[in-house]
Amino acid sequence: MPGSGFEQWVAEFEAEKARREWIADPEWARGVELPAVVARSLQKFQVGEDGDGANLRAKADLAGDAAYAAAVRLFVDEERNHARLLAELLGAAGVPLLDGHWSDGVFVRVRRLLGLRTELMVLMVAELVAVEYYRSLRDGLADPLAREVTDRILRDERRHIPFHVRRLRQSFAELAPAARPFAHLSWLLLALAGALFVAVDHGPALHAVRTSRGRFLLAVTRHAWTVGTRMAPRGGRTAAEPLPE
Ligand SMILES: [Fe+2]
Ligand SMILES: [Fe+2]
Repeated sequence: MPGSGFEQWVAEFEAEKARREWIADPEWARGVELPAVVARSLQKFQVGEDGDGANLRAKADLAGDAAYAAAVRLFVDEERNHARLLAELLGAAGVPLLDGHWSDGVFVRVRRLLGLRTELMVLMVAELVAVEYYRSLRDGLADPLAREVTDRILRDERRHIPFHVRRLRQSFAELAPAARPFAHLSWLLLALAGALFVAVDHGPALHAVRTSRGRFLLAVTRHAWTVGTRMAPRGGRTAAEPLPE
């Protein structure tokens, strides 16, 4: 029986896991200096990274694709590792962790109510926001430890986007053709709303790393446009086609 295509993703996630275990953790003992607004912003992102993996795993199991379910487990492990890295980074800066944050509580509760397709659409917005956020921090922070951690996380978040695109293409293809443009547009609006929320909420941190709310918003919107056309292709193309790179 031909595979679903996610066997390749399982292999890639496993290779990444082996690489992660092989490379040493950053040297936390050397300490880190973070602007206070960036530390506050990272506290919230740390809570978000530590999200509701069990819920996503259960939905992936129900989708009936063993390779996809295995890949989702490895994906969740990577997100948990981001939470761990950020916790260590904040610890090295002497900044306490938050128990939770209202925005993350809302995000998790909404996701629990959704089916796999809608949950992945929401998660994809979080990935796009994360890529621009960690890129801004990596490029704008002076501290070498903070740059190293944000670079490590950024590398993973970039890989997560084509992983979700692959599954979402399949999900979009399962929709009635007339419903696809509506789903595509809804997702673009969701991406815009998510980017706007983060740009406003984390504006001071973005400013501290020499970017602006507007630049952040524009970068996420541009990226969302490209990703949106990949996961909801028009012109009669199907999910069976290979992903453009
Ligand atoms: Fe993450
Ligand atoms: Fe991610």
